[in-house]
This record gives sequence, structure tokens and C-alpha cells, in this order.
Amino acid sequence: MKILAARRYPGPAFEELREVEVLPLAELDGPRSDVEGLIVANEPVPLDLLPSLRVVANYSVGYDRIDVEACTARGIVVTNTPGVLDDATADLAFALILATRRQVVEGDRLVRSGGWGRSWSDGWVAEDAAGSTLGIVGLGRIGSAVARRARGFDLRVLYTRRHPVDTELAEFRELDELLAEAHLVTVHVPLTPETRGLIDARRLALLPDGACFVNTARGEIVDEPALVAELVSGRIRAGLDVFANEPNVPPELLDLPNVVLTPHLGSATRQAREAMTRMVVDNLLAVERGDPPLTPVRP
Ligand code: DGY
Repeated sequence: MKILAARRYPGPAFEELREVEVLPLAELDGPRSDVEGLIVANEPVPLDLLPSLRVVANYSVGYDRIDVEACTARGIVVTNTPGVLDDATADLAFALILATRRQVVEGDRLVRSGGWGRSWSDGWVAEDAAGSTLGIVGLGRIGSAVARRARGFDLRVLYTRRHPVDTELAEFRELDELLAEAHLVTVHVPLTPETRGLIDARRLALLPDGACFVNTARGEIVDEPALVAELVSGRIRAGLDVFANEPNVPPELLDLPNVVLTPHLGSATRQAREAMTRMVVDNLLAVERGDPPLTPVRP
């Protein structure tokens, strides 16, 4: 089976693909009827250029930029990489929660700019993380991994999700209640038509003064201009790994001291990325053999 990959993916599993051509999708300049398998990282699939496509193996758990309905209608299997990036993403969310709450990056800038001597006399203090309330928006695999970490940090943990579950990890709240109660909020829902703009200006205004808002899910889940306005006002803090129009970051954020910015690093560990490659390759090989894919995505 001829496979097109936008780039080489990390880890030994990639070498198991026998007929793979590495070509960025943007360089696809005409129809390719020899290609039956495609690896993308949550990018739109050029269906009209790939008339023989049998499988799209998405190197990402999120598939919000792939038209799964159109693929399925043409009999094309779509797969993703659930499970293997939960710890990496939960670790990053926690890093952002703590960095934001304790002003770690601001401290780093102070040291680098030679301002350390002033910090104590200026009465630099942040807020405790321990003893504060963490609100998790979406208690799926990644949200649950965050909740488990939160126990070790002595946080009180609330969660919201469409259907509450029976769990000892966290207490259920409706979204508005959670936002009004939590000192720290972290988002872990997928981007869907229902979650696009879920955290809008009204909901952001519910956050208590000084709250830390962390997003490692998708930028479009939040009304980004409203979030920027809250941050510019200095009322809240944020740790942001995702943005509505990546790789573009709203310019107003770049000089703000109350925001920690990372470039969509949720799954960016060697272990997670190699496991994602393994899953992508196993899905492609299963379809090639005529077996059911391991982790199919359905419309
Ligand atoms: C995912 O898998 O959806 C991540 O956002 C990619 O890093």
C-alpha cells in the first residue's frame, strides 16, 4: 500500500512502512491515484487529489480539522491516537498550572534581566497552589490524568462534563458553577461544534479575580478575543499551549507578564510521540492486511 506522509514521524515504527513517500501536503500539486494511505497531523485531507485513498491515519488524538463525515462517505477509514499522549498532556497542563500560579516565567524574566535584587524589597508574592480549588473542564482520559496529579498537590478538585460520572477523583459541578468557584481552571474537552466557543466572555467573567486559566486542548474552545481582554485587564492569569489560529498568537499577549505561552507542546515528549507513531503505523498495517483498524474515528 503506497502511503503519503507529510513528514518523517519519530520512532522506529515509522521504518516498518515499506512504501512511504514523505511529502508535505502543501506540495501536492496534482491528483495522485497511487496513494492509498495518508498520515496527517489533524490537517484537512485533500480528498479530490487522492482518489484511491483507503485510510487516513491521524497523528493526533484530536481530529477537528479532518472531515470524517466526507471520508466515511467515500469508504475511507480515519484513525487517531487516543491514550498514548494522556500523561504528556496532563504533565504539561500541570506545568502550566503551577508556572502560572507561582509566576515562574515572570521570575525567570526577572533573573535574566538582572532584576532579582529588587524582587524581595518589592514584596514579590504569588498565591499558593496547595489548598486551592482546581476546576477541570472535561473529565475524559486527559482530564482524569490531571485530576490524579492534583491529589498529590493537595488541591480540591472539581470537574464538569456533559454526563457526570461516578468518580472519587473530583466533585461534579455545572460549568458556570465550576468557573465561579475554581482558582485554577484547566480545559480538556475536544473541539466539536458543541464546544467551539464554550468558554465565552460571559463565562470568563465568572472566574474569580486572580484565577489561573490553562488551555492545552484547542484554542477555539475559548472566545480568544474575550480571553485576551481579560488578560490585558490583568484580572486573571493564563497558561496557554493552544491558540485559535496557530501558529499565530494574539500580539497583545506577547508582552503580558500574567500569561505563560507554549507552542502546542501537549504531546511533545519523545515517549508520547514515538507511541503515536506506533499507533499510526499499526492502524495503517491493519487496514493494509484487511483487518479492522485499532483506533477508528467515526463521524
Ligand atoms: C492532539 O493529539 O490532539 C494534540 O493536540 C497534538 O499534539
